[in-house]
Amino acid sequence: MDLTHRPRRLRTDGIRPLVRETSLSPSDLIAPVFVDATTDERVPIGSMPGHPRVPVSGIVERVEEVLATGVQAVMLFGIPEEKDAVGSRAYAEDGVVQRAMRAVSEETDAYVVGDVCLCEYTSHGHCGVLESEAKERWERLRRDDVVEDHAADDPTLTVKNDETLDLLARTAVSQADAGADMVAPSSMTDGMVGAIREALDSAGHTDVPIMSYAAKFESSFYGPFRDAADGAPAFGDRRHYQMDPANAREARREVQLDVEQGADVLMVKPALPYLDVVRDVREASDYPVAAYNVSGEYAMLHAAAEKGWLDLDAAAHESLLSIKRAGADLILTYFAESVASSLSATS
Ligand code: PBG
Ligand code: ZN
Repeated sequence: MDLTHRPRRLRTDGIRPLVRETSLSPSDLIAPVFVDATTDERVPIGSMPGHPRVPVSGIVERVEEVLATGVQAVMLFGIPEEKDAVGSRAYAEDGVVQRAMRAVSEETDAYVVGDVCLCEYTSHGHCGVLESEAKERWERLRRDDVVEDHAADDPTLTVKNDETLDLLARTAVSQADAGADMVAPSSMTDGMVGAIREALDSAGHTDVPIMSYAAKFESSFYGPFRDAADGAPAFGDRRHYQMDPANAREARREVQLDVEQGADVLMVKPALPYLDVVRDVREASDYPVAAYNVSGEYAMLHAAAEKGWLDLDAAAHESLLSIKRAGADLILTYFAESVASSLSATS
């Protein structure tokens, strides 16, 4: 046959690496870790194989395990000793994440990122403070023990935006004080990046960057995380503050607002079902783009692999490569350790 173009010529073992467009390296990855104030031993999470909650006394050891794989950055999530209506343990100087950050930054070389949100710290599990009317209602429901029956939507139970800003700012400053190298606000509160930037600057943390969860969708892929971090809302859902999965143009507006408020890194979350948004953000801005390959994306590959239906390592590698190909510079992923280990083994 007289074919002018034979794309297969570029697919032999010798040339494939030379024409490869995308690469994946352990230095692209951030590993989430969970630190729990209510335990003194590791607690495995059924839906998150390999991602236990660890006690504060075990956090350095956990982070050292991550570093041994070649991954250099971790993101800390905390499970506090107690929760209240305003999430006070999120911004306590001796809060679980703050204690863990002090230990990790003093005793390891990890780059430490702090997730800044209130949902793991509020008794109602929402990412901010509730309307006072809603709060009273919630307290009454809790007293009457009818919370479970009340799981249905209730439009009167909403999170107050502006009243939440100050608490997020305090949380970010307390993490920076404890040694966080970067903070990552995830509550989808309007104005959160600006409020945090201003508070960090006035506290002298002008060099601490903000990685904003800029386009965070109201997704059904967060289920396993809510088991791991004990952060499920006690009633209702998050659709009045997280983005509608149907919207991509709106994601560009969200990102633009965060850039104007001083965000340093822009995140899209989840990753795989939103690769079009990752690409859009890449094209719409010159800032580094992060993508969060979330707990559900992790759990579903594990579940399929357990049944023998997928090769876990290959599917994980392909997932992360796809996220980079779409335009992400860095990836938050529960696969960080396993993928980094196999990358180091093959290179
Ligand atoms: C909290 C937060 C969530 C995740 C990261 N930070 C959960 C949520 O918004 O419900 C999700 C992470 C994951 O599923 O892996 N604001
Ligand atoms: Zn939250």
